Amino acid sequence: MKVIAAAKKATLVVGLLTLGGANAWNEGGGEQDDALTLTPDRERGIAVYEVCSACHLLEGWGQKDGTFPQLAGQHRRVLVKQLADIRAGNRDNPTMYPFALDDQIAAAAGYHEGEINPAQLVADVTAYMAQLPMNPDNGKGPWNALFPEFEQGKKLYEANCVECHGENGEGSDEKFYPKIQGQHYEYMLRQFEWIRDGKRRNANPDMVKQIEGFSDKDMQMVINYTSRLKVPKEDLAPSVDYQNPDYD
Ligand code: HEC
Ligand code: HEC
Repeated sequence: MKVIAAAKKATLVVGLLTLGGANAWNEGGGEQDDALTLTPDRERGIAVYEVCSACHLLEGWGQKDGTFPQLAGQHRRVLVKQLADIRAGNRDNPTMYPFALDDQIAAAAGYHEGEINPAQLVADVTAYMAQLPMNPDNGKGPWNALFPEFEQGKKLYEANCVECHGENGEGSDEKFYPKIQGQHYEYMLRQFEWIRDGKRRNANPDMVKQIEGFSDKDMQMVINYTSRLKVPKEDLAPSVDYQNPDYD
């Protein structure tokens, strides 16, 4: 009896540990869950986003050199998770962190800290960013379709990425998989390397495993291909000269 009880206990402990490991990514809870259940307000989203636009630009297009990612058109749930992770210190972003704190986002919306639930502001600003039209001219990698590196990158993409990010880099809102079509090459290269090397602490462990054998050249080739995936026309702004009309 005693032996069986001990064995049972051990199984339970192992079971719990495994469960903990499997759930360590995207545990949700707290602000992320709150933000996803609150009803977003567009006007407040516009007001909060003005703070963010200092780096991500009024159009949400980021920069080709990869310093700032494009946020326009990203899946709402991805934006909520990433923003909540950055605010909670689960993803390092020392440049942005001070601007994403409660007092800053509250002030942007015209409140004092404590007068409004910060999760509400996260809900507002992410809903706003997700519906912005995307940059028609994102930063691309060095190899167009005439180069063997393009083909090599395509093969790597099809074998290792489609399962999560989709045939065309469309990702999945439901599963919190980022849209990577239309994102800047230099930004993606940095993130990919950080994910591979364990520096992006909130990264999906299955992606880390999938890409652990990638050399730097593999990484450049697969991201080159990713940066050249086509964004559906209806998600793009009409031209590179487009200006966000909400900030006239
Ligand atoms: C001072 C510049 C700066 C400001 C202001 C700023 N950000 Fe950022 N943001 C960054 C940088 C830099 C990154 C990319 C960090 C990295 O390379 O990991 C980033 C990344 C992000 C990401 C992750 C995108 C992804 O693809 O995973 C989100 C979401 C985001 N910012 C939202 C916001 C919001 C919302 C605000 C306003 C409340 C804001 N940012 C204000 C600099 C800024
Ligand atoms: C098991 C699913 C999975 C696989 C396979 C996978 N990814 Fe990811 N990827 C993710 C998730 C989830 C994230 C967001 C991580 C997080 O939660 O912070 C991500 C993040 C990224 C990012 C950063 C996006 C951003 O906006 O910051 C890039 C770039 C990327 N993946 C490219 C790739 C490429 C290229 C491959 C194939 C070589 C690949 N991924 C394979 C799930 C996956």
